[in-house]
Amino acid sequence: IGTAVMTPTTNNSTSPSATMPATVPPTKRTPNDFIFGKVIGEGSFSTVYLTKDIHTQKEFAIKVCEKHYIIREKKTEYVKREKDILFYLSNTPFIVRLYYTFQDAERLYFVLSYAKNGELLPHINKVGSFDVECTKFYSGEILVALEYLHNMNVIHRDLKPENILLDENMHIMITDFGSAKMFKPPIDRNRARNGAGAGMNGCNDDDDDDEPRRRKNSFVGTAQYVSPELLTDKPVTPSSDLWAFGCIIYQMISGLPPFRSRSEYLMFQKITKLEYEFPSGFCDKARDLVEKLLVLDSEKRIGAKDSVRYTSIRSHPFYEDLDFDTLQQQTPPPIY
Ligand code: ADE
Repeated sequence: IGTAVMTPTTNNSTSPSATMPATVPPTKRTPNDFIFGKVIGEGSFSTVYLTKDIHTQKEFAIKVCEKHYIIREKKTEYVKREKDILFYLSNTPFIVRLYYTFQDAERLYFVLSYAKNGELLPHINKVGSFDVECTKFYSGEILVALEYLHNMNVIHRDLKPENILLDENMHIMITDFGSAKMFKPPIDRNRARNGAGAGMNGCNDDDDDDEPRRRKNSFVGTAQYVSPELLTDKPVTPSSDLWAFGCIIYQMISGLPPFRSRSEYLMFQKITKLEYEFPSGFCDKARDLVEKLLVLDSEKRIGAKDSVRYTSIRSHPFYEDLDFDTLQQQTPPPIY
């Protein structure tokens, strides 16, 4: 790990001079620049704290990873990749922002935007299920985020309601890029994309494609949202995120994800056989959209052949009256 993993993002090395007002933050952050508050998230390799920048009083979420643990569990590449991808995904709506990274002897620190309203999952669970208006709005924001990610040649690979956060205004922020991966776009998908996806060298070093010694898919993601292609060793593409997107729409409307089982093995069997049902009363238009997303052949999913924008999904009857281009300016519908 060491310095190769964590380099400070602010490279202005001028030390604060005596003439500077006391409020000017130092250029190189350390843990001492933040007051650490409560734990707001726990992953397998990290703990996320609510913190306050002592210079600006601004709140941040800081993800802290124990170096010895990451080295022991051989997760160095994942941590490095998450950092590279988050920096590469520049400040954009609907994706968590990485402001700085730094390290001390024992730990790595990721300073991220703080999503005041936490994860989407408890919001769904609290009310049981979302009404159609809420589902349209929140899934609409997720779709716009996926358009951005996929145009930047990034696949998230672990999209789920726990990784969708809500900011103070109840707009979504996708987080946890620990399983994300850069992909090489096929030539015909390499269309006019306003310079997006132009680069980020060194992020394609991977476990499951492009290498001559093609390795089997390593399981990434969460069992309930994992796509059939990942389970059957077919190439993982942006369309794998569309599968998870279909599972999330189903969960918003019905309260539970479509594929459920006591054991992971049985759940994987259900996924690869497309064994799921719609509860009675499930909105017809939402059902049609979910059926077009939960398609075993990843190339046949709605949107899989779209370019730049998921036009075919945007124009699905479920989204009839949703203005995708102004979602960030809209007041989210209340959840009840
Ligand atoms: N939990 C995990 N990451 C978070 C973040 N950035 N904001 C709020 N809660 C979180």
